[in-house]
Amino acid sequence: MSIAFLRAAGAALTLGVSTMLNPVLAGEVVDPHSHANSNEVRSTHLALDLDVDFATSRLKGRVEIRFERLKADADRLVLDSRALDVQAAEASVDGKVWTATRFVLGDNDAVLGQALTVTLPPQATRVRIRYATRPEAFGLQWLKGAQTAGKKQPFLFSQSEAIHARSWIPLQDSPAVRTTYEARVKTPKGLRAVMSAEMSDAPDAAGYWTFKMPQPIPSYLIAIAVGDLAFQSTGPRTGVYAEPATLKAAAWEFADTETTVALCEKLFGPYRWGRYDLLVLPPSFPYGGMENPRLTFVTPTIITGDRQLVSLIAHELAHSWSGNLVTNATWEDFWLNEGFTEYLTFRLTEAQFGKARGDMERVIGVAELREALAQAASDEDRKLKRGFPSRDPDEVFSSIPYQRGALFLVYLESKFGREAFDAFLRGWFDSHAFQSATSEQFLAYLDERLLKTRPGVVTPAQIDAWVSQPALPADAVYAVSDGLTEVDAARDRWLAGQTPITAMGAGQWTVHQWEHFFEGFPKTVTAAQLKELDAAFKLTGSGNAIIASHWYALAVGSGQVAMVQPAMTEYLGRVGRMKLISPIYRALATTDAGRVQARALFAKLGSGYHPIAQQAVERILKGN
Ligand code: BES
Ligand code: ZN
Repeated sequence: MSIAFLRAAGAALTLGVSTMLNPVLAGEVVDPHSHANSNEVRSTHLALDLDVDFATSRLKGRVEIRFERLKADADRLVLDSRALDVQAAEASVDGKVWTATRFVLGDNDAVLGQALTVTLPPQATRVRIRYATRPEAFGLQWLKGAQTAGKKQPFLFSQSEAIHARSWIPLQDSPAVRTTYEARVKTPKGLRAVMSAEMSDAPDAAGYWTFKMPQPIPSYLIAIAVGDLAFQSTGPRTGVYAEPATLKAAAWEFADTETTVALCEKLFGPYRWGRYDLLVLPPSFPYGGMENPRLTFVTPTIITGDRQLVSLIAHELAHSWSGNLVTNATWEDFWLNEGFTEYLTFRLTEAQFGKARGDMERVIGVAELREALAQAASDEDRKLKRGFPSRDPDEVFSSIPYQRGALFLVYLESKFGREAFDAFLRGWFDSHAFQSATSEQFLAYLDERLLKTRPGVVTPAQIDAWVSQPALPADAVYAVSDGLTEVDAARDRWLAGQTPITAMGAGQWTVHQWEHFFEGFPKTVTAAQLKELDAAFKLTGSGNAIIASHWYALAVGSGQVAMVQPAMTEYLGRVGRMKLISPIYRALATTDAGRVQARALFAKLGSGYHPIAQQAVERILKGN
């Protein structure tokens, strides 16, 4: 990208050309993870009309796509699709008269799916596609009543990030493309539909729930869930949706969300999405949280009864700036989303709960980073910006863009001072609001707005070391946490037989301290020591899913599977959050006998996992 182009784009922005979508990007971004011809014809608005059919595990209906032509003579609209049954395509000039038009599904690519090419009549401004999803749609999970808290009603939820929106809507599935959307969704009686949009409180006369997202968002933020859902308010702009059985505990756990929104606004600028609600999903939700605009999706495993894991909410909320407002243009620029968000989360935790807790989370982040750097398959995966495109974003997912990205911003803050850095960050969000950006665009902005203000403070070589080199720069700035240092000392004294287990003080530990306790465990621990630990703290069958995951992985890794059974099997059959189950399967897969056991467990339990989690476990069991 030429600097002249960037300048011109910057000038267009200051002149207030805000109605044009992605002015910085027009015609410039090549997204290796999309078939779409969005540099010729670009979607601007989607209108969904869907029936939720639990009997066949299918969404059935149609999507209308409005678009603008960046090339006046463009005669086709290329969309992404994956395992969709496409039945018909129509085009229209005015949205009233529709005529059938040709469509072709291309060859299937295992990662990208199929291009869906729709012929555009010369004056057409919109097309409409009738389709149905398949039961195996990668971005959806259809749950039986038994997999929910209420045990009776079925449940459906989507997970579109990174490239799974195309498995439930044919669309231009690239984060460089933003659209507004509206939807009508028909559900069985008694079940409620929610989406990442403004919502109605009741279905209309025809039984449809209606939705409207007036701000342009990338496709990976389009989200839906259907189930036996109730709502409880937690503040003027905040509230919680959950199954009735979970609602009360969830509303208590997340009672401070309104305060966090206000804090975000103070630090990062106005919250531009209206409401901020949470949706608590069944435990098979494959992530901790997903920042769907206006409606963050969260795992129930962070409802621990002590509000200790609410920084996950802070993280998803912070995405309302880093990600939802300013989006990575391609999945190669993922660190612009997640690294920024982790940095903002550190700042929020510190402001809300004090420096000690903030530093604790920073130190845990660095430990995760070191582990991820050690495990990375290649040097390309260790950089913030990969030198060549990855195949499958799910496969290369790791803590590196999160924690290396955050540490890079911590470094810049330390060099320029908090005040200057905060003003810079705010400027980045404000000047790129509702746009998508590449790493190169960020680096050009950084150079112009921060580095050049104090020449020599940070050199291009130092920036390059953070962004394009695999090793961590030697001058990175690390936090220290007394609370975690104490845990290390207590663990090591006990393991060395110097002090009794009761002297560790673990009764007072926070979940973070427990995590750190497990992460620092040596490989040489004895069965007797593990037994003592389990007896003292009732770890097997622990109601805290985070602690349970660490404990089972440790026991398995130390050859003590029997000690944690049958509770571990029950756990693996209930929880589907990848971060919690993968370490257990990975620990099993390190020995031949363990791998046989893991395969048997997965054969029995895998059908209860989300398709994305199933694929992740399959990859572990295959041995990569
Ligand atoms: N946007 C991510 C989740 C995601 C990333 C889904 C990539 C699909 C592809 C979300 O904001 C996230 O990072 N969640 C974390 C929690 C966070 C506190 C680090 C998670 O789910 O563990
Ligand atoms: Zn995130």
